[in-house]
Amino acid sequence: MPNISISISCLAILIRCFSLFLINSPSFSAGQTNETDRLALLAIKSQLHDPSGVTSSWNNTMNFCQWTGVTCGHRHQRLTELNLSSQRIGGVLSPYVGNLSFLRYINLADNGFRGDIPQEIGNLFRLEKLALSNNSFSGTIPTNLSRCSNLIHFCASNNKLEGQIPKEIGNLLKLQRLSVDINYLTGQLPDSVGNLSAIEVIRITENSLGGKIPTTLGLLRRLVNLNVAENQFSGMFPRSICNISSVELIFLTENRFSGIFPFDILLNLPNLKKLGIGGNNFVGSIPDSLSNASNLELLDLPSNQFKGKVSIDFSSLKNLWLLNLEQNNLGTGTANDLDFVIFLSNCSSLKVLSLSDNQFGGELPHSIANLSLKMIELSVGRNQISGTIPPGIRNLVNLITFTLEVNQFHGTIPDVISELKNLQQLSVFNNFLRGGIPSGLGNLTKLGSLDLGSNSLQGNIPSSLGNCQNLILFIASYNKLTGDLPQQLLSITTLSLVLDLSNNLLNGSLPLQVGNLKNLVMLDISSNQFSGVIPVTLSTCVSLEYLDISINSFYGVIPLSFRFLKSIKALNVSSNNLSGKIPEFLENLSFLEFLNLSYNYFEGEVPVKGVFSNKTKISLHGNVKLCGGIDELHLPSCPSKGSRKPKITLLKVLIPVVVSCLLLSSCLTIVYARKRRSTHKSVDTSPMEKLFPMVSYAELSKATSEFSSSNMIGQGRFGTVYKGILGDDEMVVAVKVINLKQKGASKSFVSECEALRNIRHRNLIKIITICSSTDFEGVDFKALVFEYMENGSLEDWLHQSNDQVEVRKLSLIQRMNIAIDVASAIEYLHHHCQPPMVHGDLKPSNVLLDYDMVAHVGDFGLAKFLSNHHLDIASKTPSSSIGIKGTVGYVAPGKFFMLYTHIPSFSCTNVHHF
Ligand SMILES: *[C@@H]1O[C@H](CO)[C@@H](O)[C@H](O)[C@H]1NC(C)=O
Ligand SMILES: *[C@@H]1O[C@H](CO)[C@@H](O)[C@H](O)[C@H]1NC(C)=O
Ligand SMILES: *[C@@H]1O[C@H](CO)[C@@H](O)[C@H](O)[C@H]1NC(C)=O
Ligand SMILES: *[C@@H]1O[C@H](CO)[C@@H](O)[C@H](O)[C@H]1NC(C)=O
Ligand SMILES: *[C@@H]1O[C@H](CO)[C@@H](O)[C@H](O)[C@H]1NC(C)=O
Ligand SMILES: *[C@@H]1O[C@H](CO)[C@@H](O)[C@H](O)[C@H]1NC(C)=O
Ligand SMILES: *[C@@H]1O[C@H](CO)[C@@H](O)[C@H](O)[C@H]1NC(C)=O
Repeated sequence: MPNISISISCLAILIRCFSLFLINSPSFSAGQTNETDRLALLAIKSQLHDPSGVTSSWNNTMNFCQWTGVTCGHRHQRLTELNLSSQRIGGVLSPYVGNLSFLRYINLADNGFRGDIPQEIGNLFRLEKLALSNNSFSGTIPTNLSRCSNLIHFCASNNKLEGQIPKEIGNLLKLQRLSVDINYLTGQLPDSVGNLSAIEVIRITENSLGGKIPTTLGLLRRLVNLNVAENQFSGMFPRSICNISSVELIFLTENRFSGIFPFDILLNLPNLKKLGIGGNNFVGSIPDSLSNASNLELLDLPSNQFKGKVSIDFSSLKNLWLLNLEQNNLGTGTANDLDFVIFLSNCSSLKVLSLSDNQFGGELPHSIANLSLKMIELSVGRNQISGTIPPGIRNLVNLITFTLEVNQFHGTIPDVISELKNLQQLSVFNNFLRGGIPSGLGNLTKLGSLDLGSNSLQGNIPSSLGNCQNLILFIASYNKLTGDLPQQLLSITTLSLVLDLSNNLLNGSLPLQVGNLKNLVMLDISSNQFSGVIPVTLSTCVSLEYLDISINSFYGVIPLSFRFLKSIKALNVSSNNLSGKIPEFLENLSFLEFLNLSYNYFEGEVPVKGVFSNKTKISLHGNVKLCGGIDELHLPSCPSKGSRKPKITLLKVLIPVVVSCLLLSSCLTIVYARKRRSTHKSVDTSPMEKLFPMVSYAELSKATSEFSSSNMIGQGRFGTVYKGILGDDEMVVAVKVINLKQKGASKSFVSECEALRNIRHRNLIKIITICSSTDFEGVDFKALVFEYMENGSLEDWLHQSNDQVEVRKLSLIQRMNIAIDVASAIEYLHHHCQPPMVHGDLKPSNVLLDYDMVAHVGDFGLAKFLSNHHLDIASKTPSSSIGIKGTVGYVAPGKFFMLYTHIPSFSCTNVHHF
């Protein structure tokens, strides 16, 4: 059957070629001369946005063969190569490109092209390489592409292509490389891919492709790389792949594959080096026969349902550098489960070993001391491992991550851990560890996350921990720690996620220095023996969302300065000796959803507004002298003091105006505070636009030196972004000018305004104002003005070209921070916005970094509100919400960046490295 279909399609090609020959062949058709090429290039130029002037040499004084980016053939002086890669060029690709009939090579990669890939490309039957990656091309893959019968490389990764992969693609019998990853492609992979007999690389990662992998894939005798990760493919593993002995890389990661994974196929694939099948529903056991897969370099099997004992002899897998078995049911919970780890000592390239979240029992073999010096991650958390932490860990001097949480480790935390100078994450929570916290941990100055919770640790918190000046999370809850809270710990201003010392025996007062923790989101010191008054300085921790000081012996009043805790969501001061009136300002903390004042000595009138208006959000038990409040509380009424006029704040007047959302948009606050003079001329403002005081076209034009190309900082599907200096107070801003000619741009402007009006979060980009007006020529003009992000986009950081003057690298901590920032933003959009919102276009280029490298999610042009729709993303998305208490793991954010750190990204020029 396949043979017949191949010959039919060959026939079809013959017929096509023949007709092309007659109708279109450039050598024979009249009027096709080098002049055609020149005109086509000029037509192409006329549709480009070329701020850096790359095509300025494309003028009549020069022979077009000498134009920048243009190469001609020697014989006929016709255009053979067009190379405009990485030139910050925008605009659309003119259909005239189809007239360049001698073209063999087109490279437009890494620019800002948008719009369709013109069908006329199909006229270029000499074309061998078409490189369009890293642009914003939209629309579908042109079916006419199948007429480019000499095409060898088609690379259109990272665009906005949608629709199906056309079945006609099977006609490209010379195609060696098909890269359309990171697009919005849907539908199935057509059976006709089985005709691509020359294909070496299929890379369709990060689309929405689904269905089964066609069995015809097995016909591809030259396939080297097959990467279909992050789609919705389902069905069993396509066994036909085991016929492809040439294959070196198979990535099926993050799909919906199921059934028994046929590990035996690996033995039929003598060249297989990398196997990634994580995040599917594969079942079965991992057979010992893998001991013979001696070429394996990467075995990435996490998040499936594999079970049983692992007894592979890894000795012969000399090149193995990543073994990831986490989140399966591997192991038997008995003594010899980890014996296979001994064999890994022979894998001298091993960098990453993760066994987390399985059923492995027994002890962690002391032979881990012999693992490769290259080890950067050793993760064995969430198993049933007992015994002590092997002191030989000190040998693994390059470790960045060492996690063994939720096991049955006993003994002490060995002092020698302080020798692992590169450690960024140490997680030992939920074990049976005793003894003190080694003061040497203070030498681990790169440490970002330290979780010692739920053990039986004793003694003081060493003040040396104050040297860990990169810590973002410190948890030591549920131990038996005693003594004061060392003020050195409170000098760690990077502490931004959690400081949890709850359920210990700590005493003394809460030092005033707590006010240094300006970035901290969660502080929990509950269930200790702290006393004294609540320090007023706590109010400078303006990022606090969760504050729990319950079950201590604090006395005095709730400080008035607490009114500055604008982000606070949950406040628990219960079971202390606090007294005085319940402060009225608590009504105005608009995010407050949980307030526990129980078992103190509060007295007097209970307020009725804000959090107090809902009985389920407050707890007042055991304060016998309270009165008033909402009726549902059934408190005695207060003695009458004469009539009091209800106070109406500006906030409350505005809230109903800001439609259904509870949250007041930050732009209103900022703009009102700055008292901007609005000089816009627009007459037909929509009600939505009225909410933002506007700036005029003239002001924005001035701010950006007339939208000069030197001020251009980015280009997206719907607009161009300029840096600008706005107004008398010279505020540095980013101005996004909407390209109203682009289909959908107006709609995108509206959704972006709508979205930004309704949201407020430290990790979302802040809008300052908008402009909806006309330019000096009377043409409609719309722009959004945002706070300027000094450090550009995450994309810029992750993917820097090597020839860049100053290569800047993100540290693991920064990556982790960014992942957490992004996760908090998304968590907020999904769970804390009414109605919930979906960003719709989350990717590194939309994550912007401010001066302090705090990440802000931007570009809400594709955002959607969800109504009556329950989102269960929480289980998948790393989150900084209250749910993390006590058991924070970094697995999820780590994985978010695994993609970038461990797997080299593909480009059209280095296919064989991947
Ligand atoms: C044409 O381009 C060349 C090369 O950039 C330049 O030297 C020349 O001045 C240009 N001529 C005109 C008329 O713009
Ligand atoms: C175009 O072709 C003509 C005739 O072959 C030749 O004289 C002329 O130099 C060519 N022009 C360019 C720009 O190559
Ligand atoms: C295309 O242009 C880029 C950037 O100028 C250059 O690095 C690359 O080598 C060129 N490719 C070819 C085939 O000329
Ligand atoms: C080139 O292409 C355009 C648009 O595809 C077409 O209108 C034009 O007639 C073609 N031929 C020449 C000789 O320019
Ligand atoms: C930690 O650093 C201190 C000095 O800062 C040093 O005396 C001590 O030996 C170090 N401990 C370890 C385990 O490296
Ligand atoms: C009170 O708060 C609870 C929990 O947040 C919520 O489910 C309920 O709808 C609220 N009731 C009112 C009357 O707002
Ligand atoms: C596309 O961008 C990625 C990330 O910036 C980069 O690694 C890759 O080399 C680029 N590809 C091309 C063909 O420019």
